[in-house]
Amino acid sequence: MKFTIVLGTRPEIIKLSPIIRVLEKTNIDWNIIHTNQHYSENMDKIFFDELNLPKPKYNLGIGSGTHGEQTGKMLIKVERVLLKEKPNVVIVQGDTNTVLSGALAASKLKIKIAHVEAGLRSFDRNMPEEINRVLTDHISDYLFAPTDIAKNNLLREGIKENKIFVVGNTIVDATLQNLKIAEKNENVKKFFNTLKNNGDYFLLTLHRSENVDNKKRLKNIIEGILYLTKIYDEHIIFPIHPRTKKRLEEFNLLNKLKNNEKINIIEPVGYLEFLMLEKNAKLILTDSGGIQEEACILKTPCITLRDNTERPETLSVGANILVGDDKEKLINAVNIMLNKNRNWENPFGDGKSGEKIVKILIDKNK
Ligand code: UD1
Ligand code: UDP
Repeated sequence: MKFTIVLGTRPEIIKLSPIIRVLEKTNIDWNIIHTNQHYSENMDKIFFDELNLPKPKYNLGIGSGTHGEQTGKMLIKVERVLLKEKPNVVIVQGDTNTVLSGALAASKLKIKIAHVEAGLRSFDRNMPEEINRVLTDHISDYLFAPTDIAKNNLLREGIKENKIFVVGNTIVDATLQNLKIAEKNENVKKFFNTLKNNGDYFLLTLHRSENVDNKKRLKNIIEGILYLTKIYDEHIIFPIHPRTKKRLEEFNLLNKLKNNEKINIIEPVGYLEFLMLEKNAKLILTDSGGIQEEACILKTPCITLRDNTERPETLSVGANILVGDDKEKLINAVNIMLNKNRNWENPFGDGKSGEKIVKILIDKNK
């Protein structure tokens, strides 16, 4: 029995880490193919180091590019490795171009596909991630849905129930495992000492293509954020995704943020630092998928700068509000969320998803 994990971006490394940790304790033959969709040290290597993960057996060096170019190059190179390694199962997680190419390469070679975090739907086909999710789910053999909502999305699309396993989301495992480490970590303490803030702060992240590649939308969001600094005392800590930095520069918006003394733009940080930033924030403002989940798990109120979410569980438990790029909705949501009782339930499982997934894959491939 052999498993191959195909990963390529920051959230995949984080959300697959609990599965990797379980696999390391078994005697199964397994390996990692890294497409290097993310390659900057603080989007990639830092996570392998901090999470103490083994080096990938293969680094494909794909890097950035247009969707077709990036996905196509990955397909060619992943196929070559799969032909050599001949695994029984390819494991992918999430909705990136890496996920689609890994799944497609496996499917053409008739290798079984395990999709971790299957069944998420924003019902917005303008998002590249929505296309990647739908296509990957429909060619997968083992669909690891985090919740019943995700399972029902798959059933509605005609996917057979015996392929679907509701196991929670591995982000709970990753959050709980690493929070304990982060709380005691000296480097994290040092990092907090370097941060410019006056006690309480809001945490901001932004990187969705529909937000940052659209000048008008990005401008609206930035204006909303700048307005918040006028009415609240809190600083805003903004670990900036490389895509967003590039666009803000291109659209002449970066200096507006940099010139505001309450906005603290920092480079992307490691997972331990980021978990503590999330835990201690008064509010999280984000368009990230994983961060909506982590905020919910860590009981920090979240405001999502999108019109929809594939994580509706966070809305129904009261941990998250959608505001799109609308300034009025943003201000209203901040008022609501600052007064929120943080006693909601975590809908994403018990932190044992990694173990459950590996057990099912072993049982099914005996
Ligand atoms: C990708 C995923 C997105 C996921 C996000 C996680 C797709 C279609 N998108 O978006 O779903 O939420 O990762 O962060 O797969 N760049 C660097 N260094 C890096 C990586 C990227 O500088 O290590 C810059 C490059 O200018 C690049 C841009 O960021 O062109 C975008 O990178 P890309 O991997 O295409 O998409 P993400 O926005 O990171
Ligand atoms: N994250 C991090 N450092 C940062 C920003 C985010 O470690 O500076 C982590 C965060 O904790 C979460 C993941 O990256 O687990 C989310 O990645 P991202 O927002 O890039 O992608 P998405 O989840 O939207 O696909």
